[in-house]
Amino acid sequence: MKRVIMPVQQAQCGRLVLVNDKHGLNGVSGCFLELEDIGASPWGESVLLESEAAAWLNKLMEAIDGWKYIVPVSGYRSQAQQQKIWDDSVVDSGLEFTEKYVAVPGHSEHQTGLAIDLGLRHDKVDFIRPDFPYSGICQTFRDMAADYGFIERYPEGSEAVTHIGHEPWHFRYVGVEHAKAIVERKITLEEYIEWLRKTTGKEEGFARAIPNREPAQATWYCGAFSQKYFMELMTFGQ
Ligand code: DAL
Ligand code: ZN
Repeated sequence: MKRVIMPVQQAQCGRLVLVNDKHGLNGVSGCFLELEDIGASPWGESVLLESEAAAWLNKLMEAIDGWKYIVPVSGYRSQAQQQKIWDDSVVDSGLEFTEKYVAVPGHSEHQTGLAIDLGLRHDKVDFIRPDFPYSGICQTFRDMAADYGFIERYPEGSEAVTHIGHEPWHFRYVGVEHAKAIVERKITLEEYIEWLRKTTGKEEGFARAIPNREPAQATWYCGAFSQKYFMELMTFGQ
């Protein structure tokens, strides 16, 4: 296991943290993020994921014998790694392509340890856009992802909301309860968080699911990170 320092704001939000072009990491050192090695990338590098996300991903892969056909391409990235990916992509593929498929450094959810890029095991796997088709084992993975807490984060047709191109290979861990709620509604994480805000009337709140509750329920935490407390128990779908 590897431990890295996590910005306070992110740790506060837990697995439902929203990281996008508008919401970056604040760079303030806070608590530790525990990362697990989930396997080697096609280039022989260890791919790391936040430990709870890693455990659920491995459970899903076990259920479908997925690691036999699917390879982890990219998991946790440090700020320096995201910067290098951005810089290399601008040189290799230009700015327009890069803005579509690479988040601005400091604004990538890979930096939370909660995002994973997956690819079909091929001789040649593309690092930025791995092949992860809507068929076969990849679709089996996709169909079961929410039951294990993962969502396809950048679906086709949501580019105007996510401001990222369609990425069939990028999955984000949000926990089982939230993943199911998001998939049922066919919405993005941005829209889900907006919905949570509106439903609870808590503009500043951050939500996170509580393990062992009924799948249809989650708890909404609100307040400063030093004083987490239950504000409301809400039932999805009401
Ligand atoms: N490819 C996604 C958007 C990232 O770089 O975080
Ligand atoms: Zn990704």
